[in-house]
Amino acid sequence: MTRIFAADLPTGAQRRITVDGEPVLILNHEGSLHAVSYYCGHMEYPLEGATVEDGLLVCPYHGAGFCLKTGKPDGPPAMDGIHIYSVTIQDNGELTVTQSADT
Ligand code: FES
Repeated sequence: MTRIFAADLPTGAQRRITVDGEPVLILNHEGSLHAVSYYCGHMEYPLEGATVEDGLLVCPYHGAGFCLKTGKPDGPPAMDGIHIYSVTIQDNGELTVTQSADT
């Protein structure tokens, strides 16, 4: 896994990391850390640059929205969801990112 610290991810920042060999997008939205599949559930374009609106991560390409808690799409154009990862902050500030059991 890519080593990353909370201090590396200020509010509004997004970074591509690797978790278990998979590309993951980690982001800080208004102080909350989220980690999701790097690629969109629609046409698998990168989600980097996505915005967050009403709890949805909105893809910058065709506007598909994905729930940040479940990874499910809110409707077309995406039919497939994205994986959601758990993010925890260790005592030294390093982030641990693991795949959620239900995604
Ligand atoms: S690739 Fe993300 S909405 Fe189409």
